[in-house]
Amino acid sequence: MGIGTFTPRISWTYDARVDIAQDANVLIRVRRRLPGHDEHTEQVIASASDNVLRDWPFRPLGKREQAYVSVALANDCDEPIWSDEAYVEPGLIHSGDILSQMVGPAWREPWSDRRQAPLIRTELQLRDTPQCARLYVSAFGLVDAEINGNPVGEDILNPGWTLYNERLQYRTYDVTDLLHAGNNAMGFWLGDGWYRGRLGFWGGKPNVYGSKLGVWAQLEVTFADGSTQMVASNAYDGAWKAAKGPIISSGLCEGETYDARLLPEGWSCASFDDSGWERVTEIDFDPLTLTSPEHDPIRRIGSHDIVSMNTLDDGSVIIDFGQNCTQRLEFNVSTLPAGTTITVQHAEVLDNDGDLFTRPLRRGIQRDTYISDGKNKTWEPRFTIHGFRYAKVQGWLGTLRPEDIVCHVYGSVMRRIGWFDCSSEIVNAMHSNVVWSMLSNFVSVPTDCPQRDERMGWTGDIALFAPTASFLYDTEAFLSNWLVDVASETDKYNAVPYYVPFIPLAEWRKPENIAIWGDAAVLVPWALYMASGDVHMLKRQYALSRMYIEQVSELLSEDGVWDRPPKLEFGQLGDWLDPTAPPEDAAKAMTAKELVATAFYAQSVTIAKHMAEILGNDGDKSDFEALEHRVRTGFQRRFIKADGRMTSDTQCAYALAIQFKLISDDEGLSVAGNRLAALVRAGDYTVGTGFAGTPYILPALTATGHLDEAYRLFLSTKCPSWLYQVSMGATTTWERWDSQRPDGSFNPGGMTSFNHYSLGSVATWMHETIGGISPLAPGWKEFLVSPMLGGAIDHAHVRHNSPYGVIDCAWQVQDDSLKVTLTVPHGARALVKVCGHEEWAESGVYARTYGMVTE
Ligand code: BGC
Repeated sequence: MGIGTFTPRISWTYDARVDIAQDANVLIRVRRRLPGHDEHTEQVIASASDNVLRDWPFRPLGKREQAYVSVALANDCDEPIWSDEAYVEPGLIHSGDILSQMVGPAWREPWSDRRQAPLIRTELQLRDTPQCARLYVSAFGLVDAEINGNPVGEDILNPGWTLYNERLQYRTYDVTDLLHAGNNAMGFWLGDGWYRGRLGFWGGKPNVYGSKLGVWAQLEVTFADGSTQMVASNAYDGAWKAAKGPIISSGLCEGETYDARLLPEGWSCASFDDSGWERVTEIDFDPLTLTSPEHDPIRRIGSHDIVSMNTLDDGSVIIDFGQNCTQRLEFNVSTLPAGTTITVQHAEVLDNDGDLFTRPLRRGIQRDTYISDGKNKTWEPRFTIHGFRYAKVQGWLGTLRPEDIVCHVYGSVMRRIGWFDCSSEIVNAMHSNVVWSMLSNFVSVPTDCPQRDERMGWTGDIALFAPTASFLYDTEAFLSNWLVDVASETDKYNAVPYYVPFIPLAEWRKPENIAIWGDAAVLVPWALYMASGDVHMLKRQYALSRMYIEQVSELLSEDGVWDRPPKLEFGQLGDWLDPTAPPEDAAKAMTAKELVATAFYAQSVTIAKHMAEILGNDGDKSDFEALEHRVRTGFQRRFIKADGRMTSDTQCAYALAIQFKLISDDEGLSVAGNRLAALVRAGDYTVGTGFAGTPYILPALTATGHLDEAYRLFLSTKCPSWLYQVSMGATTTWERWDSQRPDGSFNPGGMTSFNHYSLGSVATWMHETIGGISPLAPGWKEFLVSPMLGGAIDHAHVRHNSPYGVIDCAWQVQDDSLKVTLTVPHGARALVKVCGHEEWAESGVYARTYGMVTE
């Protein structure tokens, strides 16, 4: 609802058990209706094989037209069996649709912090019962709407985080049932959020986008006779008013303070007396920045039960919810007498005394305060969000009972499309941790962590994790939306900023291109393209990739090596957080930074060359080919010695050289693979890589014939390793290999999170090597099925809802044979390589048993 196009593309999939002939057709049907008009149906016949991102086959939708689309296989004899209907409705697409003003309170406020959040209200008379009503709403700050005392929609933290001065998203709500003929009222809660709240580390920065909160709202009502009525937020008709509300202060990281005694009862109902409220003022706002959302809002996506409650000596209660992630608590406060103040603080881990360990939160203290009015029934903070597993409640009068608390999980809504499990419980726990760290950090923008005073769109983290993320969830809308801002910032600063949206902070004040973080400009669009096969999206993002390649080409030395250090205090971040990096110098790694930078750039140039080829841009393609040759040759000459050893004799160096195909001959490749395996053995099967090398080490071992070392490294529980974290009780992936140390103490580094997704990129190896499926062509049109057995794992199951439909592969060892069941969707085909057999499988469902060759 409220999409930004009149001609949405359509995709559908088939049940793989149904045999569909190459020349089969489908019927595509649309039931369409303009509000206040009769519905009519249109139908077209189309090729059954054109089922992925097919162009809209009908007349373009009209303004606010409501359409239900469904598909059925065309069949001469029987009645068609229609698919479920998909609903689409265009939003405010023409600039002339935007008639409201941005309005907010006129009172004077402190420049930062502790600013009491306003409530805005208006009343309206409807001449009849609406047949259809839509509320379009956005804000400077965060907004929640109410109509006649009822909440509108279930989204939180609207309108999310974008470069507000360039793109301000609105959301569309069906409010037909909330309105009636006669007198109605609308109310809007406003909060600081990303717009003017304090953002970032080292004290952060307030008012990044402006210092005045405002709401932008447009209510469009259609009556049964087709006539319409519109209510637009404005400062001129005197009907929009503001007053200070019960939220005394709120910050995304700091938490919220709510004094229930200050909530004017019935403020969003028509009978309310607002004579004491002030008229709103208009806030400078460019209507052309208002944009249809590209991705789904942030909503409740789950809940957690209480695992334990423990009362400390001072009477405060520590509650364990069993899972670290992004969530908020809702309390039954009906028993609290007026004036009671409770505080709730949230943290990821407990200290030795069983109290919250809050040092890693830094400024982001995640503390909510509630002051009771003795009447309110439930309370949940509104304009803040927390990353935690444990909460501490202080000041509760009487006994706090488990049934007084509900723990709601939040995240940007995305469709789950990837699953994995196998016979090892600890491996399954690791996979679950990867999923939780992803969910915790996909909150409007892809963030580094959900708890401390950071929560920024660090580009390097998602550059490395995007392929994993795109297997697990349909991330195309979420990440494409963010990439629009990455492109805009990259253009503005002539470099890919370290995080997007960019805020000048401390040593990160001036964006400069650095490897990995900058490579996000290429790696994220490419991951989306490989997952979706969407050329349209690739075309849109290509300008960003190209900008980065060109910007960095200016920084190279004559021989193609990227060795000129940026002015950034850390220099290149290199293999950030490799296990030898001291707690306070995360960029101090074993592997030379210029090696890491050149390797990643070489890979990006190769990918950009493929992009140019796919998009038919021959000029770029040949430029990138020449550049690729220069960078690769430079890399080989500088970093690979005559005997095949590398100048940095590290796990990271070999992993990158192998996986980015920077070694041209088979002999060199085998030397590198052997050396990598030797280093892993010498390290007693512990990980020696940081952010840069971690996604590549297991694939590099596997690709060079060292599957045994790969499995032993993966299954190790010694620190540093993936399963070490799990063995220490982690429920998410940590930022550092040793965020918690084997002796139970916490890493003293000022940067110690227990919920970063980057190291979880290992899940891609789990899907591909243990589970056995990996894409060979964009959108999984062709894919490889080749489980490689190791460890003591004797069965595994992996599933991916690809653009063509469900891919499912399950295998099981039975005596001396391997039983494999496989689903290949219509339109795709699989290259099956199992136990020495190799064949292509077209769509269908297969069950095969292979004799296992044991060495
Ligand atoms: C973040 C990282 C990020 C890094 C870059 C950290 O504070 O949490 O994940 O990529 O800084 O320097």
